[in-house]
Order: sequence, then C-alpha cells, then structure tokens
Amino acid sequence: MIRRLRPDDLVVNVDVLTYAGNLENLQAISTTPGYHFVRADIRDQERVTAVLRQHGIEVIVNFAAESHVDRSVTSAEPFLDTNVGGTLRLLEAARTANVKRFVQISTDEVYGSLGSTGAFEETTPMAPRSPYAASKAAADHFVAAFHHTHGLDTVITRCSNNYGPYQFPEKLIPLMILNAFDGNALPVYGDGMQVRDWIHVEDHCEAIDLAVTRAPSGAVYNIGAENERPNLDVVRAILNLTGRDESLIRHVTDRPGHDRRYAMNAARIRRELGWSPRHDFERGLADTVAWYRANGPWCERVRSGAYRSYYSEQYAARLRVAGIDSEDVR
Ligand code: DAU
Repeated sequence: MIRRLRPDDLVVNVDVLTYAGNLENLQAISTTPGYHFVRADIRDQERVTAVLRQHGIEVIVNFAAESHVDRSVTSAEPFLDTNVGGTLRLLEAARTANVKRFVQISTDEVYGSLGSTGAFEETTPMAPRSPYAASKAAADHFVAAFHHTHGLDTVITRCSNNYGPYQFPEKLIPLMILNAFDGNALPVYGDGMQVRDWIHVEDHCEAIDLAVTRAPSGAVYNIGAENERPNLDVVRAILNLTGRDESLIRHVTDRPGHDRRYAMNAARIRRELGWSPRHDFERGLADTVAWYRANGPWCERVRSGAYRSYYSEQYAARLRVAGIDSEDVR
C-alpha cells in the first residue's frame, strides 16, 4: 500500500506522536534502508537541529500540525503552540543547520470561505476564520518572512480536503464510514450543504514531491483536484457504499463559524510543475471504504478510550438535541 517515490533518498520522519500519530501506519517501511524514525517535538529546536545535523538533512517538509478544526474550537492553545511556535522553531533550526529547502504543508483554509462561485487562487488574500486556519495562516506568514528576511529557500503548498487510507476518524469521511459500518448515527453539521473540494492523499503527496524537487524558491502552490461536493452528497455516497440507508443521517448543531465553501484553483501547479491528480473521487471513495472494511483491527485500535472521550465531548450533546440519547462508538 505504501509506495516510496524515491527509494534511494534518506528519509527521517520526526514525529512527537500525539493522538493521531501512529507508528503502525508506517510499519511496512519501518525497516527499509534509508528510513529513520525519530520521536521528537518540532518545538524542541535544539533536538531538531541535532537531528538535522546528524543526518545531513537537505530538505524539511513540515507536515507537523494540529489539524482538526473542531478541536481548535474547543481549545486554540495547542494550535498556536505547534502550528505557529513549532513552525517558527523549525525555521530557526533549518537556518542553523543550513538546510537547503523548507517546504510548508499548508491548507486552503487560510483563504477563508467562498460564496457559491469562484475558487481560491494563490493571490487570494488570506482571511482565516477558525483558530486552526488562523494558526496555519500565521505559520505561512513566518515561512514567507524567513524567505524574504533571511533568504531561506522556501515553498508553501496549500491543499484542499484529503481523503484515503489511514486517515484518523475525526475527519468527515472516515468518521462517517466507521459510523455507517456500526449502524450508528451520521452527525451532519447544520444543513450539510457546506462544500469541500476533495483530493486523494496520494495525489496530494505527488504534488508535494514536485514542490520539493521542482518548485522555484519562494513559490506558493494551491493543490486541489476539482472535486467539489456538498457534505450531504459525500455522506449519501458513503451510505450507498456501506449498504446503509438515509435514516442514519442526523442533522446536528453546526460547527461555530463553519466555512461554507472551499474550492481550489490549482492551475499554477498543473502548468508550472506538470502535476495532475490521478484518482477519480467516486472510485477513490469506494477504495477508501474498502480499506476501512479490510482494516477492522486498525480501526478498533485508533478508536481507543481517548477517541471515545473525544467523540462523546464533540457529539453526545449534539446527538441528544437530534433525538439520540446514548450512542457510543465501539
Ligand atoms: O480544507 C483542508 C482542511 O480540511 C485541512 O486543512 C484540515 O486539516 C482538515 O481537517 C480539513 O478541514 P475540514 O474542517 O474541512 O474537515 P472535516 O473533515 O472536519 O470536515 C469536513 C466537512 O464536514 C466540514 O464542512 C464539516 C463537516 N462535518 C465534519 C465532521 C467531522 C460534519 O458535517 N460532521 C462531522 O462529524
């Protein structure tokens, strides 16, 4: 399942392993030559600098982030610490260890929310609306500032909503798949007509590979696969693929400040770097459902006690309002 685009490159994976970090996801490559895992926090500048020097690292790709909007509504502090503070520490470490390139993995959410038409372009002004989005926008500003002030070779990529195997089931698609498997309610926020622009994780990774190897210094690239779907359509497709009917759908209290629509114009990366997505959404979604079906034990393990507490904190009251008294994930 895991395909290495560049098997001859040395890859050092630095991860502090918070709630969604899972070494099991990388077991298949854990013993392959040229791959190393280091458990470290990007906020620990000294440690990260030592790792960079020890391995002679040439490129940093900063995937590390608190990524879930709902969690940022409950508590914004970890988002400031990791997404802004962590990125700043990593930029400083990159300078100290003479890293050649710094690639920041960002998000379409830095642009805010769209009306019913149009798409975000790289020149769209940043207008983040959730604490998560604000932290990612701030990090992007630090990356750009280090490029302009210190001459650091940087690239920023901003991607739309990812889906595919191994995704932690706090996100819409895996959460709905697992609830549908169990015959539990599918908690759709508000009217469910919010639009997201879906991209398969492998298409995203191939775009990042091009950004690492071919992008000019200082560039910003939007990444998206032109797959806009209202949430309700995605949920209905999941019900179809799991053999469940629409009676499982529950419209629950909306996310505060919920962005209405995201859509990416990814013409620049297509034109300049020759990228194009390979995964069709309907096929990719069916494959994703099949992956979760085939990986029941993985799903059981990631939906640990901590996940159950999170689920109950996020959904119990909402489901009660929607008429469901007690329902737990397995
Ligand atoms: O757009 C890129 C972003 O996509 C990334 O930067 C974020 O890290 C990632 O979490 C994702 O943000 P979203 O907030 O769009 O993803 P999420 O899966 O949480 O929600 C997708 C849509 O589904 C959104 O409109 C909220 C809705 N939703 C989500 C959940 C979890 C529901 O209606 N019910 C739910 O239970």
